[in-house]
Amino acid sequence: MSTKLAIVILAAGKGTRLKMQVPKPLAPLHTNTLVDYVIKAAESMGDMFLITGHQRELVEAHVTKEHKGFGAKNFIHQKEQLGTGHAVKTYIESNKDALDYEYTMVMCADTPLLTSDVLSALLFEVEKGHDAVVATFKEEQPKGYGRILRSEKGFSIIEEKDASDEQRKITEVNSGLYIFKTSYLKEHISGLDNNNKSGEFYLTDTVKEGFNVVPKLFEDKNSFMGVNDLYQLSIVEKRLKNRNHKTLMLESGVRFLDPAHSYVYSLDVGEGSVIHPNVQVDDKSIIGKNVILEMGVTVMNSKIEDGAHIKANSFIVDSQVKEGAKIGPMAHLRPGSSVGKNSKVGNFVELKKSTLGESTSVSHLSYVGDAEVGSDVNIGCGFITCNYDGANKHKTIIGDGSFIGSDSQMIAPVKVGKECYVASGSTINKDLEDGDFAIARQKQVTKSAMAKRFIKKKS
Ligand code: UD1
Ligand code: CA
Repeated sequence: MSTKLAIVILAAGKGTRLKMQVPKPLAPLHTNTLVDYVIKAAESMGDMFLITGHQRELVEAHVTKEHKGFGAKNFIHQKEQLGTGHAVKTYIESNKDALDYEYTMVMCADTPLLTSDVLSALLFEVEKGHDAVVATFKEEQPKGYGRILRSEKGFSIIEEKDASDEQRKITEVNSGLYIFKTSYLKEHISGLDNNNKSGEFYLTDTVKEGFNVVPKLFEDKNSFMGVNDLYQLSIVEKRLKNRNHKTLMLESGVRFLDPAHSYVYSLDVGEGSVIHPNVQVDDKSIIGKNVILEMGVTVMNSKIEDGAHIKANSFIVDSQVKEGAKIGPMAHLRPGSSVGKNSKVGNFVELKKSTLGESTSVSHLSYVGDAEVGSDVNIGCGFITCNYDGANKHKTIIGDGSFIGSDSQMIAPVKVGKECYVASGSTINKDLEDGDFAIARQKQVTKSAMAKRFIKKKS
């Protein structure tokens, strides 16, 4: 156990203003939740403790599932939410190791834009020999925030409710992020009272004039934005993806045709890739170099390799697209699919739990489920794997170099060898050996000049 830094995340509040069914730490932000971002920003810096209260079972279950190393010892139960000071006091009193840490950082669960750079800068500041450092920023409309009162004797924080009109004009505000020397925090947390307009125990009352505590003003206020309601959530979500886009453009050489209308949350996109509007990529996906993601493409938890071209409105989940492959437009890669190097999956093709080898082509209107298709295979239009018998799923295997004619079905389980030829319109339910030719359709019958018997004229 590192005994240098304990990180205490305040997550016990109700979040009433958010008007959501879930507790505030679990409010969704893209495909994650608010608290996930806060944990991610801080996890490499020290040991984490989450103060939980309102709907704590949900919050604790989520965090335990999503973040390695979290267990019962990392959650501190604050039974009644009597204020931020009370939350931290509860932590100090109920975690027997709390005093072993040289420093204690306190952050809120509702500030998902915080970065590890900001946290490191704050730690660097306190290590200069201060007892506490408070992260502050300037806000032209400071409503709702605690104000920073600076004087010759030091500084203190006044909550908006308790501030005079004059104090409310101050634009430097408390971000809610702090690092304390643990011994200082312990000494000052026990003496807090709730003689204020809110009747709460304020953590902010632990910093006072005349003590060895300093505010650190950060230029970029974006990192500190909190989420209290759905409007702020929408702004934070936008800032998060805009920040990502900017990093991708400036540091990774990714081109966006219209960054305001793209939604790329992954930072793993290679140089030379081009993102069209209305593209969604989650933070679990990896996109290689020189990839084109056309209009309306969605990529979730998937890997798209160098030079792949994903055409408009394709939807890719839990899958892999290898080098130079072409997908879409309007293709659907469902979980467990893999498209080989230089292969092609065309319009209205659905793949499910299927692999295609190299340079294989399924170009039009097909369903390929639970299949293993080799390399250099050509599958014609309107091909269907009949993989489901109503109870179980079965496999279709097609060997390298085979040609499958249009409008064919494979009734699984079935295996087609290498370099086979299946004639159009065939329903295949028996295995084929390498090199076999199969045709499975009714013989055509032609009756000369008989069509007029069947052509109905409107009366
Ligand atoms: C707090 C600060 C304010 C600062 C602002 C920044 C205090 C007294 N004020 O105000 O100076 O400008 O943050 O956003 O600290 N929580 C608990 N248990 C409690 C009370 C709160 O866990 O008993 C949690 C909440 O869930 C939330 C965080 O602490 O995540 C902050 O509480 P909140 O009531 O939102 O504080 P603010 O009024 O925003
Ligand atoms: Ca708040």
